[in-house]
Amino acid sequence: MLRIAPSLLSADFGGIAEAVGEVASEADWLHVDVMDGHFVPNLTIGPPVVESLRRHSGLFFDCHLMMTNPGDYLEAFARAGADGCTVHVEVGDTTALLEQTRRLGMRAGVALNPDTPYEQVASLLGSADLVLCMTVFPGFGGQSFMAEVLPKIAQVRAGLDEMGSSAELEVDGGIDEETAPLVVRAGARVLVAGSAIFGDERPWEAARRIRVAAEKALPGATVDS
Ligand code: DX5
Ligand code: ZN
Repeated sequence: MLRIAPSLLSADFGGIAEAVGEVASEADWLHVDVMDGHFVPNLTIGPPVVESLRRHSGLFFDCHLMMTNPGDYLEAFARAGADGCTVHVEVGDTTALLEQTRRLGMRAGVALNPDTPYEQVASLLGSADLVLCMTVFPGFGGQSFMAEVLPKIAQVRAGLDEMGSSAELEVDGGIDEETAPLVVRAGARVLVAGSAIFGDERPWEAARRIRVAAEKALPGATVDS
């Protein structure tokens, strides 16, 4: 199963609910980028916005916490209506954070920066519902896809398959029609896209094009002649 997760970061923050409504029927999840101005040099949104948006959308809210102290905010995100929260392995204490996330009734994800090796998450695969491989350095939308992360995506895929895990493998950063097939071939199944969707004049069509390109790269898909 392939999931397209438009990233709010590139939406018009003055009209988020409307922007989400435009892509909703072509979105499987909504990716919510939370930046604390510390783990990454940028500030975005927090639980109050998630809570407001919850009243406008029934989509799965996939919250990507680019924060140094995510543990201090997990409960607030759960109360606001987040469905899943992903913490970065680079902040440490990941096992406890994943447990805390699950205890709060959310899907627990772990993210890795492009230069963080697979070995740092290998032992966590069994306790995560989602592994997020960043294909740009987090902090900003609209950056170029880093193809050098592809082998690590394949490593995570192999690790999950070996243990029979059904955890999601998500990628985030520079995903568009061109790069989507590459990450799907490497084993990713949840594709986050910000600027390629909300930067387009017709976000719904843009999401659709990414899905079509990605589906063609799935194992067993019929290849166009
Ligand atoms: C980057 C964020 C991404 C961002 C991706 O720090 O985690 O979710 O929105 O944006 P694009 O798709 O434009 O690279
Ligand atoms: Zn993100």
